[in-house]
Amino acid sequence: MQKKLLVTSALPYANGSIHLGHLVEFIQTDIFVRFQKHIGNTCVYIGADDTHGTPIMLSAQKQGITPEALIEKTHGEHFHDLTAFGIEFDHYYTTHSEENRVLSEFIYTEAQKKGAISDKEIEQFFCTHCAIFLPDRFIRGTCPHCKAPDQYGDACEKCSSTYSPEELGDPQCSQCQHSPVLKKSQHYFFKLSQFGEQIQTWLNQDTVKPEVKNKLQEWFTQGLREWDISRDAPYFGFKIPGTADKYFYVWMDAPVGYIASTLHWCKQTGADFESIWKSPDYEIHHFIGKDILYFHTLFWPAMLMVSGFNLPTKVNVHGFLTVNGEKMSKSRGTFINAKTYSDHLNPELLRYYFASKLTSSVEDLDFNIDDFVFKVNADVVNKVVNIGSRLGAIVTKKLSGKLTQPDPAGEHLLVQLSKAIPAIHKAYFELEYAHAMRHIMGLADQANVFIDTQAPWNLAKTDPPLAAAVCTTGLNALRLIIGLLKPVCPHLAKGVEGFLNCDTIQWENLTHWLTDHAIMPYEHLAQRVDVTHAKAVLKS
Ligand code: 2FM
Ligand code: ZN
Repeated sequence: MQKKLLVTSALPYANGSIHLGHLVEFIQTDIFVRFQKHIGNTCVYIGADDTHGTPIMLSAQKQGITPEALIEKTHGEHFHDLTAFGIEFDHYYTTHSEENRVLSEFIYTEAQKKGAISDKEIEQFFCTHCAIFLPDRFIRGTCPHCKAPDQYGDACEKCSSTYSPEELGDPQCSQCQHSPVLKKSQHYFFKLSQFGEQIQTWLNQDTVKPEVKNKLQEWFTQGLREWDISRDAPYFGFKIPGTADKYFYVWMDAPVGYIASTLHWCKQTGADFESIWKSPDYEIHHFIGKDILYFHTLFWPAMLMVSGFNLPTKVNVHGFLTVNGEKMSKSRGTFINAKTYSDHLNPELLRYYFASKLTSSVEDLDFNIDDFVFKVNADVVNKVVNIGSRLGAIVTKKLSGKLTQPDPAGEHLLVQLSKAIPAIHKAYFELEYAHAMRHIMGLADQANVFIDTQAPWNLAKTDPPLAAAVCTTGLNALRLIIGLLKPVCPHLAKGVEGFLNCDTIQWENLTHWLTDHAIMPYEHLAQRVDVTHAKAVLKS
């Protein structure tokens, strides 16, 4: 039965460029979306920029522009960078929108009506020089535990302990290095504990993987604390209704951006918003990194519950990206922006490389340059593209450009290869892409063994009809393989469709073999990557 899904990736902040770490998630999501569309499901992929908060306000100030101008510029860059990697959104919006303001206010007022909002005065660090309350990340000082100097206000990078900023020794504002003072102000809180039981029930519906559920259990055991959802002016965000100068904390309106972006898409396309966010018609699937689990599995479902929106069906959580085994780092030259990569290398190869390493677990994933070069050359170029280049030349030059019929051995091979389709379907569905890629490359190995054994380049001289039958089998195997690989390498698949002169390959026509069919002359589909060239992404 056909399903309907709404799928999201986490919304990137509007004050930085898209980098390889973001791309792990966007590529993981995009493969899932393309797979769903490929098998005939209705799937809407929604994204947006996350535009509010103090860092964005300060970053605009430093650049001498308004936050609005900054987020508009970044929106264009983000969309451009993501599109270069084949990330195909149905809609890419912004959290700084009228739809998001209205929806955030609605959720807040519903929470208020249901007694889920409280307010009290709290004390926080305030920089009198910058005239702002300082977010934890903007305070530096001595770690209260290991005494390491120059640590953030919430956690120590040396000893990994977490604490509150008042515990830091000799605190300083990271913007101006002045010592902040403690200042009182009224804050608004979301009473998360009211929703504890409901959240547990939701988590028991196979919403997250068991390893993630275990992590969440630790938080439940510690007890759910009230969540501070307000920030004082000056702040770039939405004003809280009924207050003079309080703003929603960026993490309050950011996930609402998923709904707001859907709403804007519905307005543009005429799609039915209620059916997506308010009826059982659609499943909602979020993709996130493990660092923002708390927000998506505790705060976010509670906000949806209080305001009557659908709860997510799945929250898929991935690990972090390391580069050559270490955290990406600007000083070590291993911080790779999406644009730097796409200026030097073929984005489709990164999609394949990430797919070959992605599983459904939260384990970290490594981008190792030597391994990358080895794998994409060995798999994409040597195993897959090579079938096309070798056989295409024979068919065009020696066999009048036409496929004929496979011989019995070839038919047997195609039937054998087709048997893998259900297992690969399952692997994509369960986000076990590494498994799917291994399986697909196994099929390519079988096809290459067949071609090497039959040696159609020799047969073309001695037995042209048999050579044509072998090429027909080999190129149909290529069509099947590329059809299975299509969610990962859509651009390459398009190239193969052009070369084979065939209709769009879809899951349901994977085994509609091409016989007595004219193909086009082979044109280059993908180039080998050379190590020195690949290493350029680390230097620029
Ligand atoms: O961690 C981040 O990069 C956030 N900008 C993600 C927001 S996801 C959603 F909730 F908006
Ligand atoms: Zn300051």
